[in-house]
Amino acid sequence: MFTASLMERAISVLRSNDTGFFTKPGPNQYPHQWNWDSALIALGLSHFDLPRAQLEIRSLLSGQWQDGMLPHVVYHHTTSDYFPPASFWQIENSPHAPDNPTSGITQPPLLATVIRRMHSRLPMPDFVQEVYPALLDWHRWLHTARNADGSGLVGIIHPWESGTDDSPRWLDLLAAIQPENIPEFRRGDTRYVPAIERPHRAEYERFIHLIDVFRKLNYAPAELLAHSPFLVQDVLFNAILFRADEDLRALAASLGQPTAEIDGWLSKMRLNFDARFWNGTNGLYYDYDLRAGEPIQVNTAATFLPLFAGLATTKQLQRLVEEHLLNPREYAASGEVRHWVTTTARAEPTWESRRYWRGPVWIIMNWFLIEGLQRYAYNKLAEIIRQDTLGLIEAAGFREYYDARDGSGCGSENFSWTAALALELSDRSMEENES
Ligand code: GLC
Repeated sequence: MFTASLMERAISVLRSNDTGFFTKPGPNQYPHQWNWDSALIALGLSHFDLPRAQLEIRSLLSGQWQDGMLPHVVYHHTTSDYFPPASFWQIENSPHAPDNPTSGITQPPLLATVIRRMHSRLPMPDFVQEVYPALLDWHRWLHTARNADGSGLVGIIHPWESGTDDSPRWLDLLAAIQPENIPEFRRGDTRYVPAIERPHRAEYERFIHLIDVFRKLNYAPAELLAHSPFLVQDVLFNAILFRADEDLRALAASLGQPTAEIDGWLSKMRLNFDARFWNGTNGLYYDYDLRAGEPIQVNTAATFLPLFAGLATTKQLQRLVEEHLLNPREYAASGEVRHWVTTTARAEPTWESRRYWRGPVWIIMNWFLIEGLQRYAYNKLAEIIRQDTLGLIEAAGFREYYDARDGSGCGSENFSWTAALALELSDRSMEENES
């Protein structure tokens, strides 16, 4: 059903966003290198140009901080009309900052998972050996600098660290922050994309205020944990980290490196994950607000990430699927909503069909879900969502996100990770796994 032409078009999107050493997530909207985008882009590139995929990863790692932090944006000294610009972060105030200009926060750690997958398809021991120390440093930084309550579950300090910037999960927390002196700024994100598809002004002001707080603290990790007004244990981030720790462990084993430290992280996270995140009454995983000391009871597709990590029991899996994923009031494609899977349950009052992380379909979330369902051998459902996802891309092009009602595209055009995941999802070896 999915033609060579879809794959050719996906390749040409990745080629057209290629600057030569890093790939822009979107041609106008996102002109620098983003952390988790870059991991997926490398996975996409590995389908047709392994050396270029490896270069993508090297370029990202060139922005790593000396304490191990891998930032969410690497600017590479390139200029653009993107806001915030590199200078806004003032990272030079940190003794750990690299020479390459970057942001001062991180993003979900997908990289080890991607590298393991590339290595398992086409063994590249020299490359794994080369990048392994940087991966280990980043994971170690996450497990120490962000181990806010000693539970081994890591905290995030900014909605941008979650990768799901204006998710309704963060709205109450952001509303509780009352910034006094927000630095002057002019948004760039509504220049190329209609305002109705982007975050509201109130959230944006708080995004900027948080950066201002962090730069005044010189990005000292202990200070950030002590003073960031936003401090959350995010289900999505922790599930991705758990999975990435497993993948890092496999890479370590393949290199003959010690694994005890990674085993320690894994067992601590496994021990505390359910008690912190699982809500047995509602059959959902909820994020945890460390400042307020309470769960954030908002139902979004982040609740399916423990499937990607293999952290859910069979009982939890059944509840997630039967009570939520297949529920036409929440996630199932049904009635007016024709596509899988909205990033927020439709029953949430904050749901908006075209606004950013408030409701539209994002291909990355579908990919996590498909991978998670396959992990638990829910192959039929995974296949339905996979076909629907590829159909959406085939019909509306490689967009940043899609309106689930009619499949129309939103946000950036020619979006790189949509192209990368189209290649990944069309891969024949994946189809062979399905029966
Ligand atoms: C937006 C998304 C984030 C992504 C970035 C670049 O900020 O929320 O997840 O990494 O764009 O595509």
